[in-house]
Amino acid sequence: MTWNRKHLLDIESLSPEEIITVLDTARAFKAVGERAIKKVPALRGKTVVNLFVEPSTRTRISFELSEQRLSADIINFTAEASSLKKGETLRDTARNLEALNTDFIVIRHSASGAPHFLAREINSSVINAGDGAHEHPTQALLDMFTIRERKGQISGLNVTILGDILYSRVARSDIWALTKLGAHVTLCGPSTLVPREFEQMGCRVTYDVEEAIREADIINLLRIQHERQRKTMFPSLGEYSSLFGLNKARLGRTKPEVLIMHPGPINRGVEIDSQVADCGRSVILEQVTNGLAVRMAVLFLLNGGKGPQGVSP
Ligand code: CP
Repeated sequence: MTWNRKHLLDIESLSPEEIITVLDTARAFKAVGERAIKKVPALRGKTVVNLFVEPSTRTRISFELSEQRLSADIINFTAEASSLKKGETLRDTARNLEALNTDFIVIRHSASGAPHFLAREINSSVINAGDGAHEHPTQALLDMFTIRERKGQISGLNVTILGDILYSRVARSDIWALTKLGAHVTLCGPSTLVPREFEQMGCRVTYDVEEAIREADIINLLRIQHERQRKTMFPSLGEYSSLFGLNKARLGRTKPEVLIMHPGPINRGVEIDSQVADCGRSVILEQVTNGLAVRMAVLFLLNGGKGPQGVSP
């Protein structure tokens, strides 16, 4: 299929075919990343601004490296050293950046909807790198890429997302992507962080962690998003860990071929024990590796790339 989008704002509005186009294109870029010369000229002459107004390690570095690999000119905007600190609005900041003839703005922001707002206000292509508790589309795409690469397909798999669902943008984007691609999604965690309203997105909700992990092909762990919680949602981290954390004993009660995923940053000893994070079934660092190819694919397609067949062999 052809890709006609100017922006990547969410997974909710993507069709299954569009998601598959990104994944197929990312597979071609992963092969490029395994060559001696990893750089291609696809974005030569184009300018990308990385507008990160909220902290990030993986997403920011992954976007920056993917832009370098595509030969783009890059501006890394540092919120702490910017005139946002003097009261300049996001709209004015973006319009000033665009006055420098930018082509792409990659934005991470604590406000849900900030990328959608920018897409209405400016002419550049906008890519959502995580907006509040709303969506994190490139994380979901790299998660789908990793599952597909390891399991061959996504349709029919049992995927359990375990942890703080309520405040997680990764959970929302993953739920959209997984259900569109035919997976069976189970959500589990404390009832205060996994409201039954999520069933309306086509998921199953359970508060029984043993039942949630027993038949799972994939267990995707989420950290507690303290930065977005305005009140205490459970008694203590120790209690959370003993009731919902994935430890070696619990891992022993899962399918032998289960994959353990986590978008990072991980909180060892809370939602995941070190023995699980670093075990052979963990694909947490593979997710990071795959993020590079996925973000190259997204930039390539938004720039008018024609899918995997357009990636130089
Ligand atoms: N997965 C993820 O978004 O990590 P960062 O916050 O480090 O970018």
